[in-house]
Amino acid sequence: MIINGPNLNLLRIREKNIYGSQDFQSYFEELKALYEQGVELLYFQSNHEGAIIDKLHEIGFSYDGIVLNAGAYTHTSIAIADAIAGINTPVVEVHISNVHQREAFRHHSYLAKNCVGVICGFGLNSYKLGVESFL
Ligand code: DQA
Repeated sequence: MIINGPNLNLLRIREKNIYGSQDFQSYFEELKALYEQGVELLYFQSNHEGAIIDKLHEIGFSYDGIVLNAGAYTHTSIAIADAIAGINTPVVEVHISNVHQREAFRHHSYLAKNCVGVICGFGLNSYKLGVESFL
């Protein structure tokens, strides 16, 4: 499952110079088409920290892998970090932008320590690389 956090529902509209001009839904359709056979991809987005945590609890004991872009919660949320630590399903942290080329407050992730790996800076392809890491 791919989980997107806050403001990622605004892809295509939001800061195009950083996040590009494609909306996530159309990218997700392209991604699903690549894996028609044998791989089931699902998508969830929420702007609410608790809703992301609820989703991690809901799927985190039965799904094969989670590709998580927690948006700004990456840099603030001990609660999401604890949720990742508490579930069994491995989580890969992804970011569209290269957070290390940006403001210093984006350089730290509370989540990374509890994730199997981190992928950032490849645009929407970061999600594909995240999915590939589970295959
Ligand atoms: C982001 C990077 C975060 O710092 C930012 O708050 C986002 C998007 C990315 O995908 O590049 O909302 O996670």
